[in-house]
Amino acid sequence: MSTAAIIPAAGFGLRLGGEAPKALREVGGESLLVHAVRGLKAATAADLACFVIAVPAGTEDMVLKQLEPYCEGAHLQVVAGGSERTDSVRAALELVPVDGIDCVLVHDAARSFVPVEVIERVVAAVRAGAPAVVPAVPVTDTIKRVDRDGRVVDTPDRAALVAVQTPQGFEPSVLRRAHAGEVAGATDDAMLCERLGVPVQTVEGSEDAFKVTRPRDLLLAEWLLAERTRS
Ligand code: CTP
Ligand code: MG
Repeated sequence: MSTAAIIPAAGFGLRLGGEAPKALREVGGESLLVHAVRGLKAATAADLACFVIAVPAGTEDMVLKQLEPYCEGAHLQVVAGGSERTDSVRAALELVPVDGIDCVLVHDAARSFVPVEVIERVVAAVRAGAPAVVPAVPVTDTIKRVDRDGRVVDTPDRAALVAVQTPQGFEPSVLRRAHAGEVAGATDDAMLCERLGVPVQTVEGSEDAFKVTRPRDLLLAEWLLAERTRS
C-alpha cells in the first residue's frame, strides 16, 4: 500500500505580495513548491506513490516540467485549483487513484520545510488506524475570542489549544466523504472530518513546518535552508 500527496498550491499569496503566486516564489534558488515536493519525497517510510498538485490555472504545464525531476518513481499530476483552498484540494482529490492507496496526505505548498519525521509520524498514525491525523504544536500567544467590534468575549485555556499544520493525513474514503459535503468556511481538511463526527488525532508537529505567509517568513525560510545545508 502507498501514500498519495495532494498539494494545494493554487493560492496567490496576497499577504506575501509580489508578482508570482506564492508556491512559485523562490527560496535558495528553488520554488517553495519544489522544496515541498522534495520534503515529501524524502519521507521514505511514507511510500509516496502519487502527487497531485493544484496550481493557478494557466501554470499547469510549467509546474509539471518544474516538478518532474523531483518526482522520480512517483506518479505526478498537476491540476488547476479553485478559488478557495478547499476547491483546490477537491479538484486534486478527484485525481487520486482509489486502488493501492491507504493514506492521503494534504500538504500546503507554503509549509515547504516540514521535517521528514513529522510526515512519517502522520502516515504512521493513519496506518495504525486513525482516520484523520494532524500535526500540532503548542500555541505561545494567549488567544482571545472577540466579537465583531473587537471586544473580548473570553479567553480559552491555552493548555487546551494547539496550532495545527500540514501534512494532514487521512484514510482515503474519509477524506472523500469529507469533501463530498458542505465545505464553506473550512480552513483545513481536518475541520471537514470533524463536521462528519470523525475523530481527528494530533501528532507532534514542528516549528519548521511554519507556513510562509508574510514577507518576513521568506527570511526565516532562507535562514532555515542555510542551517540545513550547513548541518
Ligand atoms: N491554496 C490553494 N488554492 C486556493 C487558496 C490557497 O491551493 N484557492 C493553497 C496555497 O497555495 C497554500 C495553501 O493553500 O499552499 C495555504 O494557503 P495560504 O497560506 O492562505 O496561501 P494563499 O491563499 O496563497 O495566501 P493568501 O491567503 O495570503 O492570499
Ligand atoms: Mg489564503
